[in-house]
Amino acid sequence: MASRTAVEHPTATVPVHKDPDILAAAARMAGEDLCSIADLSSSEVRAILKLGREVKHNPREYRHALDAKQMVLMFEKASLRTRLAFETGFNTMGGNAIFVDQTNSPLGERETIADVARNLERWVDVIVLRTYAHDTITDMAANARVPVINALSDFEHPCQALADFMALEEHFGKVAGLNFTFVGDGNNVCHSLMLTGAQLGANVTVATPRGYSPDIEIVTIAREMAERNGGEIRLLQDPHAAVESADAVYTDVCVSMGFEHESTKRAPIFRPFQVNEALMAKAAPHAVFMHCLPARRNEEVTDAVIDSPQSIVFDQAENRMHAQKALLLLLLGGLANVTSFQ
Ligand code: CP
Ligand code: NVA
Repeated sequence: MASRTAVEHPTATVPVHKDPDILAAAARMAGEDLCSIADLSSSEVRAILKLGREVKHNPREYRHALDAKQMVLMFEKASLRTRLAFETGFNTMGGNAIFVDQTNSPLGERETIADVARNLERWVDVIVLRTYAHDTITDMAANARVPVINALSDFEHPCQALADFMALEEHFGKVAGLNFTFVGDGNNVCHSLMLTGAQLGANVTVATPRGYSPDIEIVTIAREMAERNGGEIRLLQDPHAAVESADAVYTDVCVSMGFEHESTKRAPIFRPFQVNEALMAKAAPHAVFMHCLPARRNEEVTDAVIDSPQSIVFDQAENRMHAQKALLLLLLGGLANVTSFQ
């Protein structure tokens, strides 16, 4: 079946192997961690998106870029997209991915995070973590001499946001100046979207119920980034005002993993924030609907919206793999093995 979205591929003015953002990112990011989008400069975010598009359209060029590299994924929470996008992406560049289910054995319980790090770095080239506590990720990064990637913590989901803005760039041609609205819980996904949007010069509006607004530290950093990049960050509590003139409307589940015990309390609080046809009608007529997935259908979003032609949720999901491949290439120095970059 043909793609339903009108995907634009802006003509590259500079060949990708000469692109200054990509070359600078390859030099600066090799061996680094990605705990937060705040670890990346604006130019590095742009580089990941450009390289993601390149990898998406020319996957064969990168078939051996990470030959014989080893990746471990240690996940304290369930995953479909993140795990599979990392595993398929890494394997199709010549690497080998090892998954360790930590859902019944939280990291740091059996031995310290530092000791885990000092073991892992002897065997693997990159550590991918999905955790509850964000500190688990930063502790691992502080103690491991190989790159550590945040595959979602309670505080951030950087890989998600990179794929999402890649999807927006494909759909609209550019992200700077785009009106991007997030409606829902101001936690991990929202935080990473705010930072990524700010680094790309988007106008980011966030509408949350009172008491569920984004963390003040993220708001402060995102506002500084937005000011430098020509965008703005607005925080509202009225979803209808927030989606006015929006080019993209994004939502996430009202009850994140680890907060299931709050389901009954949250349901009535988040009900007015449901993205339904009435809410989407207030956005720009060309607006897209976005969701990180998994969706709780007919809770935070109705079937009519998520299944509508405006929805780009599966393009986002697809781009998880391409954006993560770009990230891995940059963190692991993989471009040195790609003929066009030599
Ligand atoms: N969006 C996302 O991270 O999906 P998974 O929880 O399935 O990995
Ligand atoms: N906010 C959600 C995102 C899942 C991808 C959660 O943390 O469960």
